Amino acid sequence: MEQFIMKGGNPLVGEVTIGGAKNAALGILAASIMTDEDVLIENLPDVRDINVLLEAIQEIGASVDRIDRHTVKINASDIHEVSVDDEYIRRIRASYYFIGALLGKYKSAQVPLPGGCNIGSRPIDLHIKGFRALGAKVEIERGAVLAHAIDLVGSHIYLDKVSVGATINIMMAAALAEGQTIIENVAKEPHVVDVANFLNSMGANIKGAGTDIIRIKGVRKLHGTEYSIIPDQIEAGTFMCAAAATRGDITVRNVIPKHLEAISAKLLEIGCEVVEFDDAVRVVGKPKQRHTNINTLPYPGFPTDMQPQMTVTLALAEGTSIVTESIFENRFKYVDELARMGGSIKVEGNVAIIGGVDGFTGAQVNAPDLRAGAALVIAGLAAEGFTVVDEIGYIQRGYEHFEEKLRGLGAQIEKVDSDKEAQKFRLKIG
Ligand code: EPZ
Repeated sequence: MEQFIMKGGNPLVGEVTIGGAKNAALGILAASIMTDEDVLIENLPDVRDINVLLEAIQEIGASVDRIDRHTVKINASDIHEVSVDDEYIRRIRASYYFIGALLGKYKSAQVPLPGGCNIGSRPIDLHIKGFRALGAKVEIERGAVLAHAIDLVGSHIYLDKVSVGATINIMMAAALAEGQTIIENVAKEPHVVDVANFLNSMGANIKGAGTDIIRIKGVRKLHGTEYSIIPDQIEAGTFMCAAAATRGDITVRNVIPKHLEAISAKLLEIGCEVVEFDDAVRVVGKPKQRHTNINTLPYPGFPTDMQPQMTVTLALAEGTSIVTESIFENRFKYVDELARMGGSIKVEGNVAIIGGVDGFTGAQVNAPDLRAGAALVIAGLAAEGFTVVDEIGYIQRGYEHFEEKLRGLGAQIEKVDSDKEAQKFRLKIG
């Protein structure tokens, strides 16, 4: 099983270029099958979840031409299947986007229910509520979602909870429904806006993405487009926290600073220096960083996908910090792993009470999910001695060349897949 092995204690210093946003790309790739014309997508992150989705798109009959690691041309005119294969798609959560895309274009879809994952149960009841409001018959049978409509007709939908996935999924189906759809209490994340902009570049008529209400006027067909995906807010935030936790000095390039405001604000609160440029943000960690409190919220609040990385940073600050995870019900599993490195964190329900410590010591830890895995790598790079992070497949789902980018900042880290290789690294680094 591949692992990351690292020797911590060096401040990370330098510049890192941020890739395309995974959570925008997943929605955009699904939406790309809603036209029979060519779609060219650039600034695609080369990560596992994206590659799995591209395999599934090919599997149902679309042509997928990977021009380079970050560019793909898709043509869905030959799709012969509205039932998405179990094998590929069960592995990623964003499989549910096929329902909105296929239902919108073909008025029919059969997609395996996405598994839960290690951060919570992750139901899709709001997605289904939206599809039914548009006139679709939706059943759950044998672990799959079966959706079918004679016609999709615009509707007024109120989402009981702010949901990124439900917002994007309903937006896709409504783009090709008859008449107007209004969706209230929608998610406003940058990646939701990016999917709306992508659909509009295909001829959809979607207004209000990024606000609390999205208004969609259904169109008959969507046409081809060329589109470049926005930078990944969470990859950028992860490196910003790496600068703070290792007391380093990192400039993240190719970002939209506005998307990072909640993260920058918290790093400023704990005493880091944060400097914004047009398309870059520089974070300078300080020897003594203060405690603060975090409450994860839908955008523009502090992103839940940055909660583990910020908790690691606060675990190395002075004083007691409180982190409240308001989005998912089980997103502190990594705290037990952090305790093995000397972290002093008590979890009570969805609240973590963090007692700052002077430093971590290296240990063997397991990544329980994607963002917690990245946070444990940050902890290992801040720790004294060697750390091994196991289950790095989670990390590779959402971070492109993570260890290479970290090495570019001075980290002593390697990907190994045997004890022998790990031993070689220890002897080499000494
Ligand atoms: C997206 O998940 C992201 N994944 C997640 O990122 C991110 O944490 C999450 O949005 C919140 O920002 C992708 O975009 C592929 P939600 P999603 O629907 O859409 C509840 C990462 O690390 N809910 O906004 O599944 C849900 O249980 C991943 O990149 C319902 O109750 O999240 C949660 O408590 C992890 N019913 C809350 O809403 C529904 O029908 C927010 O979930 C849908 C969601």
